[in-house]
Amino acid sequence: MRLVLKLGGSLLYDKDNQIISERIREYAQTLSQLVDNGHKMVVVVGGGKPARTFISAARELGASEAQCDWLGIKTARLNAELLSAALQDRVYPKIVETLDELETAWCTERIVLMGGLTPGQSTNAVAALASEIINADMLLNATNVDGVYDKDPREEGATKLDTILIDDLERILSGGGTRAGEYRLFDPVAIRVVKRSRIKTVIFDGKEPSNISKIVAGKMIGSIIIHKTSSVEE
Ligand code: UTP
Repeated sequence: MRLVLKLGGSLLYDKDNQIISERIREYAQTLSQLVDNGHKMVVVVGGGKPARTFISAARELGASEAQCDWLGIKTARLNAELLSAALQDRVYPKIVETLDELETAWCTERIVLMGGLTPGQSTNAVAALASEIINADMLLNATNVDGVYDKDPREEGATKLDTILIDDLERILSGGGTRAGEYRLFDPVAIRVVKRSRIKTVIFDGKEPSNISKIVAGKMIGSIIIHKTSSVEE
């Protein structure tokens, strides 16, 4: 399969902002195994807590939103370097910074890593755009929650949805923040791209790296974004 994995930056840091090296190592092992089994992939790494720390300090110092976004973009690329270190010679030896560059890197047999791309979006948009470029069979969104809920999961009575229509997800997320570092699950660009190309997308708990292999093997984990067809849903 052609896969895009979005690895939420929050998965790489513990509550004291320390890098969880063991989890990065486990991800590298899981991804290497998938490659050994014949899968090809792009991994987009998010900015996580360090991105937010830099963004809020820069904003307080007078930076514009675009300048804050750039800090998030660069932090996400730096996080991708950590995974690159763990993947060693399995990985394309440069964090890809443009979609043009992605096309070239994808022609190699290596795992391709990306962080941020351009201001005004989150790394989920990067993952969605990368999915279009490589014509991905699946976009795997590893995050720190176990799926999409019908309301804020911290609220009483919130229910996890096994499947969710892209239009419903769009509605649930509408009104979310659009400033640097404040996007919720999916930003508007990501939603639009997933919708227009009907990208099969799974949002799941990434604290357990082996969930990826289970999903690729066909197990239902997390929440699956579905797209309406004229008569049936797929
Ligand atoms: P993300 O918000 O995508 O990081 O990028 P993340 O780690 O996936 O988020 P969580 O922790 O899992 O929720 C960090 C910030 O970098 C900027 C945005 O400001 C974004 O909030 N960014 C990222 C861009 O401006 N453009 C990009 O293409 C990517």
